[in-house]
Amino acid sequence: MGHELFIAPSILSADFTRLAEAVALVEDAGADLIHVDVMDGHFVPNLTIGPPVVRALKRVARRPLDVHLMVSDPDSTAQWYVDAGADIVTVHVEASADLRHTLQAIGAAGVTPGVTLNPDTPVSTIREVLPIVGLVLVMSVNPGFGGQSFIESSVAKVAEIASMCEEAGASPRIEVDGGIDALTAPRVVSAGADTLVAGNAIFGAADPAAALREIRARAEAHLV
Ligand code: DX5
Ligand code: ZN
Repeated sequence: MGHELFIAPSILSADFTRLAEAVALVEDAGADLIHVDVMDGHFVPNLTIGPPVVRALKRVARRPLDVHLMVSDPDSTAQWYVDAGADIVTVHVEASADLRHTLQAIGAAGVTPGVTLNPDTPVSTIREVLPIVGLVLVMSVNPGFGGQSFIESSVAKVAEIASMCEEAGASPRIEVDGGIDALTAPRVVSAGADTLVAGNAIFGAADPAAALREIRARAEAHLV
C-alpha cells in the first residue's frame, strides 16, 4: 500500500531477564518497531506484560513501542498503555464493546490506534473503523503464545483486508503477527502486508540480528 516495510520483533520470545539488551540488539539490526504482547490471562490463556514493563521499555527503546493488547477489557485499560508510553495501541475487535470510542480515545491522546482480529474473526467486523485506525493487525495464529505455526488462510485474509482498505479509501499499515519467518514473510507481503511481527524466528535464532535481516531481505523484494 505504498508504505516501506517495517519489521516489528516481538519481545515475547526474548529473555525477560535481559529485555533492554534484546531491544538494543534488534534496534541495531534495523528493527522499525518493538512489538509488545500484553496478555491478561483472561482474553488469552497466558499472562505477560503490563503497564510497568511498558514504562520501563519506553526508557530504553529508541524505536516506537507497538503494543498489542490481548485483554478482555481494552475499553477501560487501553489508556494505561497510552500513559505508559506506547506509540501504537492495538485493540482486539472481539474484546471491545465500544471499539470506535476506544480507538478514538487512543488517537486523541496522540497515539496511533490499531485494530486486530483473530484468525476465525471475519474481516467485515473491522470495516467501519478502517478510516480511524493507523494499523490493522492480522493474527496469523490464535493469540496467546509465541512459536506457533502460521495459519495458511492468513495470506488470503491479508489480501481481503488490503482490498477492503482500498475500497474504503483508507491506508492503514497492514501488520501480520504469528508464525512469521523468512518463508512466510514474503507471502504475506505479496498479499499486501507492510509490517511484520516476528518473535521466535528472531529471538529463537542463533543469530537474531542475521535472522531479522534475512526476513527483511526476503520480504522487501515482494513489497507491493
Ligand atoms: C501471539 C503474539 C505474537 C507472538 C508472535 O499471541 O501476539 O506477537 O509473539 O510470535 P511468533 O513470531 O513466535 O509466532
Ligand atoms: Zn502480538
